[in-house]
Amino acid sequence: MGKTIAIAGKGGTGKTTLIGLILRWMAEQDIKPILAVDADANANLGEVLDVKVPGNIGELREGMKSDVPAGMTKEAYMEYHIQNLLVETGTYDLLTMGRPEGAGCYCYANALCTKFIDFMVKEYDYVVIDNEAGMEHLSRLLMKDIDLLLVVSDPSLRGIRTAGRIKELVEEINLRVGTLALVINRAIDGKLVDEAYQLINEIGIELAGVIPDDPLLAKFDREGKATIKLPTEAIAYQEVGKIMPKIFPY
Ligand SMILES: Nc1ncnc2c1ncn2[C@@H]1O[C@H](COP(=O)(O)OP(=O)(O)OP(=O)(O)O)[C@@H](O)[C@H]1O
Ligand SMILES: [Mg+2]
Repeated sequence: MGKTIAIAGKGGTGKTTLIGLILRWMAEQDIKPILAVDADANANLGEVLDVKVPGNIGELREGMKSDVPAGMTKEAYMEYHIQNLLVETGTYDLLTMGRPEGAGCYCYANALCTKFIDFMVKEYDYVVIDNEAGMEHLSRLLMKDIDLLLVVSDPSLRGIRTAGRIKELVEEINLRVGTLALVINRAIDGKLVDEAYQLINEIGIELAGVIPDDPLLAKFDREGKATIKLPTEAIAYQEVGKIMPKIFPY
């Protein structure tokens, strides 16, 4: 079983951006094979990675209710289609989860999805998961064992307190986490106020690093360019390059 890297944090703090930059860093280190999983119902990791997403697990689960041709088993249907959902880029493969199973979900379809995903995951040395905001999603995490969980926060004290609550929740729901580390994102000039450092100390969470607010990243965003294509000199990417070797589950 490979190692798992996941991310948590309030909405809009930069989780997807950071996952994108981590995948790029891993590719540059020649770390592979990697499965990137977009577990956000409102999937957008594909855009960050400049990958066209052909479909998602949610749609496949729906399709199993009505689209399975006569004479075909559900297993065969699933095996066939799940391969098509997986985008292979040469550096990492991307799997998009789509909408989670809703009320009245067809449980057999769901169990089958889980089975195939578990099977697929075993083929990789690393699984890197982008999550949606909101702490309740943490408990739905694909894997219960996480080697590295990054909690992302903006530089505000309020944001850091939220990160502290995420840490508490992780402890409550019995996620087994190897390294849990805080990343502060979008800090002006890459600096924090003294009170922020104090609060981080009180919470007792490892501060992996502070990523500056990067005007180039914002420009890419405005112009609809994929974050993954940032030049190496981009200050946000430079910081990711400093953070990762310290905490990466080699
Ligand atoms: N260091 C940074 N400098 C400048 N802009 C940034 C930085 N990090 C993220 N952003 C921008 O902030 C916005 C939100 O980022 P992102 O989508 O990664 O957040 P998220 O936590 O994944 O959001 P959600 O909770 O909706 O999934 C994006 O427009 C992104 O380009
Ligand atoms: Mg996101």
